[in-house]
Amino acid sequence: MMVKSQNGSKLSPEIFKGLRDLIYDKSGIFFPEAKLYLLEGRLTTRLRDLGLSDFRDYFTYIKRVSVQAEELIKLYSLITINETYFFRYPKQLDIFDKRLLPEFISRHPDEKNKKLKIWSTASSSGEELFTLAIMIRELLGKDVSNWDIDLKGTDISERMLELARQAEYGHNSFRGKLEGRYLSRYFKQNGERYQVNQNIKNMASFDYLNLRDINSIRKQRGLDFIFCRNVLIYFDREMKKRVVDAFYEILNHGGYLFLGEAESLHGVSSSFKVEHFPSAFVYKKE
Ligand SMILES: C[S@@+](CC[C@H](N)C(=O)[O-])C[C@H]1O[C@@H](n2cnc3c(N)ncnc32)[C@H](O)[C@@H]1O
Repeated sequence: MMVKSQNGSKLSPEIFKGLRDLIYDKSGIFFPEAKLYLLEGRLTTRLRDLGLSDFRDYFTYIKRVSVQAEELIKLYSLITINETYFFRYPKQLDIFDKRLLPEFISRHPDEKNKKLKIWSTASSSGEELFTLAIMIRELLGKDVSNWDIDLKGTDISERMLELARQAEYGHNSFRGKLEGRYLSRYFKQNGERYQVNQNIKNMASFDYLNLRDINSIRKQRGLDFIFCRNVLIYFDREMKKRVVDAFYEILNHGGYLFLGEAESLHGVSSSFKVEHFPSAFVYKKE
């Protein structure tokens, strides 16, 4: 079977498999056969930009050692699904905001010991991490200046990281449960768009990190909370296990792991204790 793309080039099953295996090997993102059209559609513009008329030429190009690392980074920005918005999954976030964060704060009364470290492991354009920053700011109030707060967002898509660093959002990013008072308190309206205030922006930083690279995960030490929401779904069981085992290593004792609302560690890891709340559950390293 040959598939004809918009610019007339064709993605054969053979080249699809080659590209799929390369993408899986380097990023852990798995494209099943049913997604051949998706991959073809996403890569069409890249072929055009490179002046290539054929997917076979693209495959030859991306296999070249001298260009591979750089080309893969471009590829990830094209093939990833980056859906996200502020205050996504409010029931789950309520557990963080109303239970776990207040408990964490009360366990750190000592001035010299007020350190909080959170990692959003697939932060996309940053809405998840800025949501947490707003929650922290709301809860700590003026006391925020007494805390050493490290909020880190990482992603494989440089395009999304750039948007996160700009921290300016359109209406689509606000389709979750964002209370009006937060909008006026933490954003500045700029026409149709909203710019995150500098005091919130300064709390967060964004860097490239490929979760396939377990050594890079292990370098992130001393985490109190890890958010890994809506990314494990793109990985197979083996990759999920490697990633989650590394999270377990780098979490502090008493630290928490948040997955997406529909995700679980069933069949992946039994190291974590599941903590059930009326509205949702989270994973704890005891
Ligand atoms: C659906 S978004 C989730 C965003 C946010 N966590 C949320 O739940 O709203 C998934 C993100 O995972 C990122 N991603 C996919 N594979 C990755 C990998 N191997 N390493 C790091 N990030 C990856 C994608 O670029 C994308 O931005």
